[in-house]
Amino acid sequence: MERSRRRGLSFVAGFGLSFTVLAGLASVAVVAGSLHARAGARDDDAVARLGRDPVAQAAARAFLEGQETFRFDTFGSEAFWGDQLRLHEAIAGAANGGVGDGVSPRTALSVGLKVDVDRLPANLRQRLRRGEVDLDDPATTVALLKLGAVLGVKGVFEGDALTSMGISCALCHSTVDDSLAPGVGRRLDGWANRDLDVGLIVSLSPDLSPFMRLLGASDETVRTVLRSWGPGKFDAELVLDGKAFRPDGKPAATLLPPAYGLAGVNLHTWTGWGSVTHWNALVANLEMHGQGTFFDPRLNDAAKFPIAAREGFGDVRNTPDLITSKLAALHLYQLALPAPSPPEGSFDPAIAARGKALFEGKAKCATCHVPPLYTEPGWNMHTAEEIGIDSFQADRSPDGRYRTSPLKGLWAHQKGGFYHDGRFATLADVVDHYDAHFQLALTEGEKQALAEFLESL
Ligand code: HEC
Ligand code: HEC
Repeated sequence: MERSRRRGLSFVAGFGLSFTVLAGLASVAVVAGSLHARAGARDDDAVARLGRDPVAQAAARAFLEGQETFRFDTFGSEAFWGDQLRLHEAIAGAANGGVGDGVSPRTALSVGLKVDVDRLPANLRQRLRRGEVDLDDPATTVALLKLGAVLGVKGVFEGDALTSMGISCALCHSTVDDSLAPGVGRRLDGWANRDLDVGLIVSLSPDLSPFMRLLGASDETVRTVLRSWGPGKFDAELVLDGKAFRPDGKPAATLLPPAYGLAGVNLHTWTGWGSVTHWNALVANLEMHGQGTFFDPRLNDAAKFPIAAREGFGDVRNTPDLITSKLAALHLYQLALPAPSPPEGSFDPAIAARGKALFEGKAKCATCHVPPLYTEPGWNMHTAEEIGIDSFQADRSPDGRYRTSPLKGLWAHQKGGFYHDGRFATLADVVDHYDAHFQLALTEGEKQALAEFLESL
């Protein structure tokens, strides 16, 4: 199998295809991967043919366009994060034409921002490795922004002066492999950045009046809410319903989910708001505050979404529309992102195999988490009662339900815990919950095996 894959790739490379098509084949490789499983040796030909197929070439182009959008497109959100919130001024600091102390690279890394090593010139990489770069000077952060090296944050410059900034999808849904230093490495698109303290970063803004107006709250209250979220969390529903805290007083924010392994999954987000492309449009318009078009009359429900209904978020029209033309390629790229395989040696295969049998048998997990999607083909939604938790977050969504989480690549988003709000700190806690709720009567060994299987996905 391994050998035939390698042979297939060199065969394709032998055609001297253009860079675009070759890079695009990375996406086709996802398709080819599944072909491999089924078609075996006939693949070599299939993959080679794809390289010349006009449909595959169009897919490759869309893949690259979607990747560009996912990583770098701000959808005009500079008008919000820069012009209104003036977040760039807080980042630059008074010494660099902004306000306050500024955000040093050390601080930026400590609140979870990530640096793309591929954007750093060789000499800077070398100086970073040798510890010769001043990580306490906000001017260094500004320089990193100018290089386009901070994941998901796009600075606007006049000369060396940072005059505005916008954000991209990569801010929350990418991280790096730490290959150069903690927080500095190669991009990992689709991975949830569970280090990122979105609320804390936003709370640095000198002017939070857009949030004060939306929420009808004081500057102090808005800052308190933003600082309540903590690392790896964001509250996408806050600007729709204004609910900042759960009935038990804890923050209403949810964990940043991964944006990989989503192909074949029907409904998305913790509470199943819609398809990937529905949510992309919602996020780009309403959360990132980009300028586009968005239609979802479910948001006109004033009882459920008082802010959204009042503000007309269910029918947003901007001219020019900087979002809609990018949705198709962004959708394709999102679906092309595979869930990463667990590192070798990170789990015990024999114990995981026992866990698999339990998952599909006695523990009944697979009735909802249907392999290999690990969510239901079809309407993948459940009531809070069915899974034995409270309905607070489900009630903040149109269908009032929780979406069965796809579990592939679970190992890569363990920080912050499990379930929408991270209420279960470990996989063992998740298994204990199901054991009690469904009265599974699992032995300690069986519980361990199930958890080991979850590590192997
Ligand atoms: C500020 C952080 C942030 C940014 C920026 C952001 N997202 Fe998200 N994303 C989230 C959170 C939080 C959720 C979960 C929301 C929920 O369940 O209510 C989410 C959910 C998703 C999901 C659903 C994942 C699943 O498991 O079904 C997808 C897909 C997604 N985002 C894609 C994107 C894309 C594409 C962009 C850029 C257009 C983007 N996001 C920008 C935080 C962010
Ligand atoms: C009735 C359907 C159903 C059954 C049965 C079920 N689950 Fe789930 N599972 C869900 C739903 C819905 C969620 C999402 C919960 C949330 O968003 O808070 C979930 C979430 C999870 C998560 C958290 C994923 C994450 O990203 O945080 C894990 C792990 C999990 N389930 C494992 C299991 C295991 C193991 C079993 C069997 C013991 C099981 N599930 C049985 C519906 C089910």
